[in-house]
Amino acid sequence: DNQKTHQLAIIPGDGIGKEVVQEGIRVLDFISKHSPNNFNFETDYFPWGCEYYLEHGRMMDEDGLERLKNYDAIYFGAVGFPGVPDHVSLWGLRIAICQGFDQWANIRPVEFLPGVPSKLNHPDTDTLNWVLVRENSEGEYSGIGGRNFTGRGPGKEVAVQSSLFTEEGCERVIRYAFDLARTRKRKKVTSVTKSNAQQYGMVLWDEVFARVSKEYPDVETDQWLVDAMAANFVLHPEDLEVVVASNLLADILSDLGSALAGSLGIAASANLDPERRYPSMFESVHGSAPDIAGKGIANPIGAIGSASLMLEQLGYAEEAQLVNQSIRDATAAGYLTADIGGNTSTKEMTDAILEALAKVY
Ligand code: NAI
Ligand code: MG
Repeated sequence: DNQKTHQLAIIPGDGIGKEVVQEGIRVLDFISKHSPNNFNFETDYFPWGCEYYLEHGRMMDEDGLERLKNYDAIYFGAVGFPGVPDHVSLWGLRIAICQGFDQWANIRPVEFLPGVPSKLNHPDTDTLNWVLVRENSEGEYSGIGGRNFTGRGPGKEVAVQSSLFTEEGCERVIRYAFDLARTRKRKKVTSVTKSNAQQYGMVLWDEVFARVSKEYPDVETDQWLVDAMAANFVLHPEDLEVVVASNLLADILSDLGSALAGSLGIAASANLDPERRYPSMFESVHGSAPDIAGKGIANPIGAIGSASLMLEQLGYAEEAQLVNQSIRDATAAGYLTADIGGNTSTKEMTDAILEALAKVY
């Protein structure tokens, strides 16, 4: 027969990254075995991360991108480990891959799950869901800047950290947000900046947003400053549909969104190269959570939701939908890890999701 094989690069990373990636793989294996679509995954593991750094002095091998570039997708856990500065671990692996493969659209759905106590005082939280589209290649993560270049010495040091906004970079991610909005029930894009204070880059962003929006007359728009939007996330979450923002602002808003929904542990994300020149990377939003690592209690929902985003990008929208529905079935049935108010273990949470999936297949 003509079974389709997808080559998957797996980077578990550190701490609970390793624990939750394992659970996502269980779900992917189950889906590929039971789906009427004939496909499977071939997996290769890469031991990169902070523990690797402590041994080898690098977060990943020097030829890391070269070795990853022919995979169909990358499945990533999380990095961060005591003894390695966070800026070293972030730039050495996650950003190296996102920027190296020009994965310029970071998609972060905010999902309110049935049975999960929300932090919002809102009458029907179960119906809330929106998606953050995070610019993922430039902005505040341009890496442009420096320290010590004035030679002023200790106590008088100067650091410069510049943001980079290009018309092309703004346009492609804003356009992505509009195209995504067209696939949703309510067609609406909200742009978030801080262009009163950031008068160059973010004003350019606003201008591009206004120009692109004219090509989508069927899509409703609004524009907010990020401080007001942070409040709006709490006060009027029902107004949110697709929210597009710069690298840093969307990162902050996505943690806020998932915390409102109950926990960072349930937040999924996809770092997409929508042009499909390179593999895209799928990862839960949370970090390595050293405070709970090794205890078997990490919430695998963020990682499993990220696996669902991977299925969608590989062309299995129906399977992706089934995974999402099974997550909802599991939480609705009362399976909740500690971070969302229960005592279900990492493995039992996945078991419950697989059980819900098994009812469909
Ligand atoms: P974190 O996301 O690791 O943890 C924040 C809090 O949320 C902790 O109390 C943790 O126990 C809880 N939490 C996170 N994920 C959870 C899950 N799946 N289930 C249950 N509880 C969960 O963020 P933190 O503590 O700021 O950073 C820890 C390390 O992770 C740092 O080294 C940081 O640099 C790194 N980090 C890495 C990221 C990545 O690899 N993409 C993203 C964010 C942080
Ligand atoms: Mg973050």
